[in-house]
Amino acid sequence: MKIIYLLVPLLAIYFLDGCRSSYDRTESRETASRYFSDPKIERRVDSLMSQMTLDEKIGQLVLYSSHFTTTGPTLPKNVEEAIRNGTCGNIFNAHVPAYNRELQRIAVEETRMGIPLLFGYDVIHGMKTIFPINLGMSCSWDIEGIKNSARVAAREAIAAGLNWTFSPMVDVTRDPRWGRVSEGSGEDTYLGSLIAAAMVEGYQGEGPETLASDSTILACIKHFAAYGAPQAGRDYQTVDLSDRTLRETYLPPYKAGIDAGAGSVMSAFNDIDAIPATASRYLMTDILRKEWGFNGFVVTDFTAINELVPHGVAADSLEAGALALNAGINMDLQGDIYHRFLKQLVEQKRVFLKQVDKMCAGVLRIKFALGLFDDPYRYLDTTAVAREFYKPENLAAARDMARKSIVLLKNDNRTLPIATGRKIALIGPFANTRIDLLGSWYGQGDSSHVVSILQGMQERFGHNKVIYAQGAPYEQESRIGFSQALHAARNSDITVVAVGLPGSWSGEATSMTTITLPLIQQELIAAIRTTGKPLVLLLLNGRPLDLSWESTVSDAIVEAWYPGTEGGHAVADVLSGDFNPCGKLTMTFPRTLGQVPIHYDIKNTGRPFTPNVGEQHYVSRYIDLPDNTPLYPFGYGLSYTTFAYSDLRIVPDKSDMKQPIEITVTVRNSGERSGTEVVQLYIQDVVASVTRPLRQLKGFERVELAPGESREISFQLDAESISFYRQDMSYGYEPGQFKVWVGGSSTADLEGIFEVTR
Ligand code: NOJ
Repeated sequence: MKIIYLLVPLLAIYFLDGCRSSYDRTESRETASRYFSDPKIERRVDSLMSQMTLDEKIGQLVLYSSHFTTTGPTLPKNVEEAIRNGTCGNIFNAHVPAYNRELQRIAVEETRMGIPLLFGYDVIHGMKTIFPINLGMSCSWDIEGIKNSARVAAREAIAAGLNWTFSPMVDVTRDPRWGRVSEGSGEDTYLGSLIAAAMVEGYQGEGPETLASDSTILACIKHFAAYGAPQAGRDYQTVDLSDRTLRETYLPPYKAGIDAGAGSVMSAFNDIDAIPATASRYLMTDILRKEWGFNGFVVTDFTAINELVPHGVAADSLEAGALALNAGINMDLQGDIYHRFLKQLVEQKRVFLKQVDKMCAGVLRIKFALGLFDDPYRYLDTTAVAREFYKPENLAAARDMARKSIVLLKNDNRTLPIATGRKIALIGPFANTRIDLLGSWYGQGDSSHVVSILQGMQERFGHNKVIYAQGAPYEQESRIGFSQALHAARNSDITVVAVGLPGSWSGEATSMTTITLPLIQQELIAAIRTTGKPLVLLLLNGRPLDLSWESTVSDAIVEAWYPGTEGGHAVADVLSGDFNPCGKLTMTFPRTLGQVPIHYDIKNTGRPFTPNVGEQHYVSRYIDLPDNTPLYPFGYGLSYTTFAYSDLRIVPDKSDMKQPIEITVTVRNSGERSGTEVVQLYIQDVVASVTRPLRQLKGFERVELAPGESREISFQLDAESISFYRQDMSYGYEPGQFKVWVGGSSTADLEGIFEVTR
């Protein structure tokens, strides 16, 4: 009997191991820590800390907004005084160089230790020159371009006296009800991870550049973790995910940002698996520090420590402070909990001095890495604004990114592009606004510098060729402007109706229970439709919309997102055909909100529904939708030309994965214009020890082709590309068959297969 007890587990281990690969990922602990583990810096941190009092250490863990009238619960009446007396070691929202310089002077010259301040700000998609919202930028799939947007933002931020941005937000987002989908890179983990790393490199520098270089600022990976998965899309709401989904879908972009060297991380507002992130030792210490080797610092989101009380995990602020510090939160953003209670908590032995020291060292390490101790004023050149803001190359980069982010969703009968000389009726609540083009979190972007759609169209097509009529406000049920709009449409060759949602309906605390256009805008579209003129819908919005009705009544649909300062130029570039659209969706557009959350990498269920197979009962579907497909899938976007795919080759098609597998395909521009295609590679692990997505993006390349031109594109799949968290949560791959698809969207149908052997 005893032998059987022994044998069963041994056999189980044998069989489980038998189906494992030899590949097991070693966590890249070294990658992250290599950035901030300079022994010279460590010596300076130790020496500085050995001279600091507890109060001074706590001061380094405090971050206040300079706008002390509009923020937080208990604020210092005078932020200068708080800096002077050492209770505040960091400032955010101050972005006037002379002011920041004065605050820095106080910190450096009037405090005992002379520790310089960090100056943080929400520079999310530009500081002054505003790029498209991040969701829009992700639709460019242009990783270098996105990196450059961060570089431009960093330079303008530095000119404003900043050395730290609360960006990139790398939360994977799959629910358009959540208003903050506009700030992220969409639903895909792989693409989101590449963008996370690129933005960190853009802000913090790469290659020989370091955090201490003149053109770099500190990045902040947020919101750790899984803030993008609130239940029912309601902001701040509970997140409840399996550890597998957390690790496989949500965590990789944070890790990618950290591996790229991000020196700070922001803790999320939400709870996850019943623990608020800001009190989660599992997230802040076990995963972030121990597994990933992060040794920068974690700042809370705005008053997130205080919010542990309404979350119901802390009885009072004192307890909240202890939970956060012990979890591994370095810096209290505006909550004033560390300032008021940390000393008391140390005295009561509810937190250990050692932990306070650790948290303080994290902040100081980054201040040293930024070079602030060597030159505290180096970011505070009061003449830089004039040189850096709205530089021609910044505007050019914003225009280029804006046109690459635009997604052509529909284009029947070659309605677009619009030929020069045609008369255009430009109608709609967003045709002549400027502020809305900036979206949410637009730094110090100035609406007077924004090129409106009307301005861009008039410049390109001529003032006498573009007839503008607002038609209707964006929401209010007022049809007064309809007749003027109809008149404009009747007297034109083509109508462009700029509809969508105002910029203020995106971003934090803008969850919505409907994702259709407001009724008045639909009525406007219906009215314009009666003129019989070709109808182009130009969308300005920060989330996927339900366009089921609009897609049946329009000839063309152009998703422009919130395109930023150069938006009007970019839209005119695309509508005129001066620029051939190439954006591809990074969030699925559902047919109806009832399908949400919907994303391309779904699983099969045990009762899959197969379209066009006749009656099927008791299968996974809705009885009020024809099938489970979205209106516009992930990866989708049209061009004014067409692309054909052929000759898919997989070499070798049987492999033990010691060497990568090469997937090659030929892409041809089969239309009449030059254009750029985003060639996408998807795979499926057909049978595994756990259910696997039907498709997962594993590679892509932007390819520019002249009419008739062909190019061979190759992708490499290595062991990492086919790995996942197996049944026992070990990470690696399993042998068996893998399907491959290559094409211009997540519904690509050029298919191949390969086999992975033991
Ligand atoms: C709250 C937001 O959630 C976060 O993204 C932002 O960085 C902070 N406020 C600071 O403004």
